[in-house]
Amino acid sequence: MSKLLEDIIFDLLELFRPYIEGIDSVLDIGTGTSIPIHIVAENFPKVRYNTVDIVDIRKRYMLPFVIYDGKNLPFDNLEFDVSILNETLHHCEDPERVLIEARRVAKSIYVIEHFPNPNTNIKELVKTEINALNNFGLNCQIYNPFTDHSLSLLFKKTGLKIWDKVEIPYYGTREIRKYFFKLE
Ligand SMILES: C[S@@+](CC[C@H](N)C(=O)[O-])C[C@H]1O[C@@H](n2cnc3c(N)ncnc32)[C@H](O)[C@@H]1O
Repeated sequence: MSKLLEDIIFDLLELFRPYIEGIDSVLDIGTGTSIPIHIVAENFPKVRYNTVDIVDIRKRYMLPFVIYDGKNLPFDNLEFDVSILNETLHHCEDPERVLIEARRVAKSIYVIEHFPNPNTNIKELVKTEINALNNFGLNCQIYNPFTDHSLSLLFKKTGLKIWDKVEIPYYGTREIRKYFFKLE
């Protein structure tokens, strides 16, 4: 039986509740359509939100937004409690640089990434990702999916420690698993 979108969103919000309650400010890096962070903002309205991206493909406009160069975030050191990178890192030309910047402007980083299942046809996965992005009006040709191992190495290289790692239920048809990481 397929799960209702409303139920899926409710479950995800409950999963993230302990990580959002009690924080004051969030920077959503690579906000894309900005729909997910707007849903979070509606459910956790006490938090102060900012959003950035290298292009403007937003479908929701209530939160402050700036376009930046993809390298230097236009914010001061530790201006936020949390930087969020939701399915963003695998689309970045230089994910190491983006992580270092995310850490500079915030105390913690929340990363959501997916990993291809073992024996997945990577060509097919790339095709479905690029198609999905095109449907959102995003002409993004960079898609370098991580493995659990390659992402752990990247975190280590940037001096980030994993404080929490949680599998996120995924109800789509792609051959992937999704994870949430809390890093400091
Ligand atoms: C798949 S979308 C994810 C959007 C959104 N976070 C979400 O969950 O719906 C990836 C986004 O990363 C952005 N992006 C690519 N390189 C970036 C960079 N260096 N810094 C910030 N965002 C970047 C893309 O423009 C795109 O909007």
